Amino acid sequence: MTPVTVRVPAKVNLQLSVGPRRDDGYHDLVTVFHAVSLFDEVSVRPANRTSVRVTGQDAASVPVGRANLAARAARALADVLGSRGQSAVRIEIRKRIPVSAGLAGGSADAAATLVACNELWGTGLTHSELGDVAAGVGSDVPFALLGGTAVGQGRGERLTAALAAGTYHWVLAFAAGGLSTPEVYAACDRLRTARVARTGGAGAAEAAGPGDSADDPPRELVPDPALSTELMAALRSGDPGAVGPLLSNDLQPAALSLRPDLRLALTAGRDFGALGAVVSGSGPTCAFLAANADQARELAVALTSAGVCRGVVRVQGPAAGAAIVAAERG
Ligand code: C5P
Repeated sequence: MTPVTVRVPAKVNLQLSVGPRRDDGYHDLVTVFHAVSLFDEVSVRPANRTSVRVTGQDAASVPVGRANLAARAARALADVLGSRGQSAVRIEIRKRIPVSAGLAGGSADAAATLVACNELWGTGLTHSELGDVAAGVGSDVPFALLGGTAVGQGRGERLTAALAAGTYHWVLAFAAGGLSTPEVYAACDRLRTARVARTGGAGAAEAAGPGDSADDPPRELVPDPALSTELMAALRSGDPGAVGPLLSNDLQPAALSLRPDLRLALTAGRDFGALGAVVSGSGPTCAFLAANADQARELAVALTSAGVCRGVVRVQGPAAGAAIVAAERG
């Protein structure tokens, strides 16, 4: 039987503002997600038991057992449907999005699996119901369903589409190896605690609340995350020259503390004329905003010859969210 195939984009964060750690271990965020034209493809077909096969970029480092986010997404949807679902599927993931790269590739595969199973099983779930299932699978999964440019709040799962004009030309510089998202958030907490101690926040440990770990800064000293109105205005104007200097990421110091070599890539990109340079999400991918397609081409060549990364791709944003490219309902 013909499988259902879904194409799903990677994301970069144009703003990532991180608040204090919550009691559930997550951090409250305000983020501006932006989907870019680097796509994974996921195919699902009915099977006797659920299995995952991964090919392409970094395939060997994707877990294929129960921990696989795509398999978890299929199970989460089957659980919601109860007896309405035919729950087992064979999932084939063709990866172009690097793994543990700050581009939400695993979340993208989970979102694609939700869309594919939704079609395969003819569930009739609305987009918003599918979004609720997505939020249960991971913080970035709802955005991979939606695509475009959107503001994320809460853990990142509460989305509002953003008014953004124009097309943005990016160069993504991939790093050798990946970074673990929980480790980057933990490093962010440690750096904040150290800064509080340095800047006279004495009594930090005493001030820590019951849910705080020893590594956490006192919650009242971490500002609540807030949306950059300047960035939103720049996005509405569609001017990459206005957007570039406003790219920001609270996780960047933490990612750089774990991977100091990324500084070389960021500096090189700026020196080669990028309008903005930022670590994507929890890293280690660095995203460079170019003025137009020609400048993106030049930047990609310059970064490659500078030897500051393991590879580059040119992408455009905003890209559409997870969408079916081939299907035959079972
Ligand atoms: O939701 P997801 O599984 O993608 O998150 C992975 C990890 O990233 C979480 O377990 C948590 O350590 C960290 N995280 C966080 N705050 C968020 C999102 C993710 O601390 N808002």
